[in-house]
Parts: sequence; C-alpha cells; structure tokens
Amino acid sequence: MEIDQSEILKKLQGKVFEAISEASEELGLETYVIGGYVRDIFLNRPSKDIDVVCVGSGIQLAKNVASRFEKKTHLSVFKTYGTAQVKSGDIEVEFVGARKESYRPDSRNPVVEDGTLQDDQNRRDFTINALALCLNKARFGELVDPFDGLNDMENLKIRTPLNPDITFSDDPLRMMRAIRFATQLGFFIDPETFDAIERNVNRIEIISKERVVDELNKIILSPRPSIGFELLEQTGLLELILPELVALKGVETREGIGHKDNFSHTLKVLDNLAGETQDLWLRWAAIFHDIAKPATKRFDPKFGWTFHNHNYMGMKMLPGIFRRMKFPMNDKLKYVQKMVLLHMRPIILSEDEVTDSAVRRLLFEAGDDIDGLMLLCEADITSKNPEKVKRFLQNFRLVREKLKEIEEKDRLRNFQPPIDGEEIMERFGLPPGRVVGELKNAIKDAILDGIIPNEYEAANRFLMGKAKALGIL
Ligand code: CTP
Repeated sequence: MEIDQSEILKKLQGKVFEAISEASEELGLETYVIGGYVRDIFLNRPSKDIDVVCVGSGIQLAKNVASRFEKKTHLSVFKTYGTAQVKSGDIEVEFVGARKESYRPDSRNPVVEDGTLQDDQNRRDFTINALALCLNKARFGELVDPFDGLNDMENLKIRTPLNPDITFSDDPLRMMRAIRFATQLGFFIDPETFDAIERNVNRIEIISKERVVDELNKIILSPRPSIGFELLEQTGLLELILPELVALKGVETREGIGHKDNFSHTLKVLDNLAGETQDLWLRWAAIFHDIAKPATKRFDPKFGWTFHNHNYMGMKMLPGIFRRMKFPMNDKLKYVQKMVLLHMRPIILSEDEVTDSAVRRLLFEAGDDIDGLMLLCEADITSKNPEKVKRFLQNFRLVREKLKEIEEKDRLRNFQPPIDGEEIMERFGLPPGRVVGELKNAIKDAILDGIIPNEYEAANRFLMGKAKALGIL
C-alpha cells in the first residue's frame, strides 16, 4: 500500500496532536498514536477514540497534555493500570506507557513491565491494530509497522503479530475480535490465525459474557452480519456461545422431501434485515425467529416437514437464553419475544384474503412494534422461487396499504377498548369475574371486526345490547 504522507499529516492536524507532540518534547518522551485510530486512518473510516503510547509514563504525559487545554478538559488517572484519559469535547485520548506483558499459564493476569514500542506492538491483537504513528517533532507522522500491517490491510487480512496461539491464549476475547473485524471490515482471517482460533475456542470460557456479547453485538450491527456468524460457526465458537443456533444447521430428507437449512435461512433473514434497519434488538429477533424449529420439527407423510408452534416455543425459549447471555431481562426480552411470537402473522395474513378484520387484529397485537414486525416478516422471505417471492411481496404491499388505511381510520395502535372492566363492573354492579371479561372482550372483538367504530358512544350502545342478551339488564 502506498503511503500518502500528506494524508497522514492531515489526519494528525489539530490541537490535540499538537499538544501531545509538544508535551512529549518537553518531557523528552518518545510518543506514538497507535491501534484502531491509525488503522482507521488507512482504511478511511471515521474514528474518535485515540490511543497514545509513550516510552515512559503515560500518566505524566496525560497530565502535561491536559494542562495545555482550557478548563473544559477532563483528566482521569487510573493508577493501578498506569493509564490516563483526557477528554475534551467529544474527543477521548487514552494514554499508556509502552509495556511488555508476559502471561503465565496458571494465571489470566499478565505480568506487566515497562517496555519499548516494539514490546508494546508485540502484545497487540492484530497486525492492522499494531500500526503506530510517531508524534515527536522530528519524526511527526512517521509510520512504525514492524509486522507489515499495511500489507495485510491491502490484502484484507486479519493476522496476529506473534504466534496466534500465544496471542489468543493471552486474551481469548481476541478470537471474537478477529471475527468481528472480519465482519465489520469485510476482511479475511489468515489461515494460520483461523486454525489457532479453532484450537483455542475453549478458552473463551474465561471471558465474561458481557465482553463476548459486546463483540457479538458489533458483529450483528455490521452491514453483513452473516459473515461473522458463519465464521463463529466454522471455528466452533458458536457452539460454545449459542448452541441453539448451531442446532438450526442441516437438512434432512425423508420420502424424497427435504426442508431448508434453517441456519443459512436465519443468516439470510438477518442480512436482509440489516439492509433495512439499524435496530439491534430487531436484528436479534431475526437471529432467534426460528430458534425452536429443531425442537418442533416433525415429519408428516401427508404434509411433509412441519414446525408447528415454533414461534410460540421460540418465545418460550428466550428467557433462558437471555439469562444465560446476561442480556437485559426487561422490555428488550419482551420485544424480542413479541417479534418471535408474531413473526409469521403478516405472512399468514397475506396468504389469505387480506381482510380489514385480520389487519386490525394484527395491529392490535403488535401495537407500536408493527413497523419492526413488518420488516422482520419481509426479511423472512428467502424463497429462491421468484414467482413466490413476487407474490409474497405483492401481498405484503397490500397488507401495508391496509395497515395504513385502518390505522388512519381506527387509531388502533396501542388501542385499549373505550370501556374498561372497571366501568363494566360499576355499571352492572358485577364482581370481578368471567362475565366482566366476556363483556370486555365482546367490545374489543366488535371493534376489531369492524362491527362498531372505536368510539365510546358506539361501544356503550353495543355493551347495553350485549348485557341485555346475557340477561344482565
Ligand atoms: N487491543 C488488543 N487486544 C484486545 C483489545 C485491544 O490488542 N483484546 C489493542 C489493539 O491494538 C487495539 C487497541 O488495543 O487496536 C484499542 O482497542 P479497542 O479500542 O478495543 O479497539 P479498536 O481497535 O480501537 O477498535 P474499535 O474501536 O472498533 O473497538
């Protein structure tokens, strides 16, 4: 890769780098900007967090840099780690002294000693993340690239600077990071690095769920998340993290009838959805939408393969998975459950005649989440038969039109029937119980079926008639 020095200097312009450079001169420190920030300069990606390493005390350097800014700068010092952070506006700079780390097999924590720039680069995860640009006056903007990271960048290669077994065993999260970078950047994992991930997968168990999930989320939020899930599966990591997804893999054929591979289908749905929304939890819903297919799979000589109730069973599986993954057990879980439960509704609806009543019921159940549900359902159309796809999409357009029409007319999003149980009990002097529920549901059904409009007066008239019929009045 040709180095465009003027481009580098342009990226290192501004008060922050100037201050770091001056502080380094004053303290007589050798200083570099390193890691993701440098990588992203060459990849032309936006990057905001700046990592600075100096041969000496990072804390001392940070203090000096902070003193060069006006009051708004915030300095945090982490003595135990020997690091410091300077925040100025939306710029965050991390300072650390170059270090050498050595790991002992019996401990997860490294022995850390002061080191040279080369020592510091050796302990980094990938060659593309080990690039450093000098910030000292005489060498300002000079690239230090001992592992040919620039070449790897050109060849779209994720490769560890040292023996990959050492790099991954030192910090097993890096296996996830390799896959995450491959997905985010559209890079390939070098075969030796890939093989080392396969050999070291079990070490992922020492990493906290939160950090693993953080990487998973970054994979999921990439433009083509399937790349990451394929790699997670091929390396064996997925089996350890989300075995339920691996169980979706495979095709079985009986009496000449096969079913689709639900793993590749799920990934296709995820990619489709990724083209439509940045919503992380909707993307998770895509990942989980068919999660109960293996558990509900049956072969029926008359109908072929069936997966009855897989949406309902899928919804039931989610709390267990969420708990294990340390996901939020709050409205996020509820949302994904709702999406998984309802994911087939729009398509079933569009297969039949698209009646107002069916559309109203869908709107009633999905509430504000209807738009996400429609996106998920559309993404779920992965048939290879163009005729079928055309028909589905056509019907979907119809469902969307009807949804819009009915929503404007009936205001059904997050709809609550205009007369509630309390009012019914009071009106007829009824205790809580079955009859109250029946009357309440009758009003709701009448509105959803379009028998009466969604208005108080109409509901009231309907209620009186119903009460009479039941002999309450
Ligand atoms: N690093 C590492 N091993 C890790 C994490 C980080 O070697 N497990 C090093 C890499 O050199 C990396 C730098 O620390 O470039 C900064 O890490 P981080 O901010 O987590 O990642 P970035 O590479 O900056 O990428 P992103 O901001 O996309 O996470």
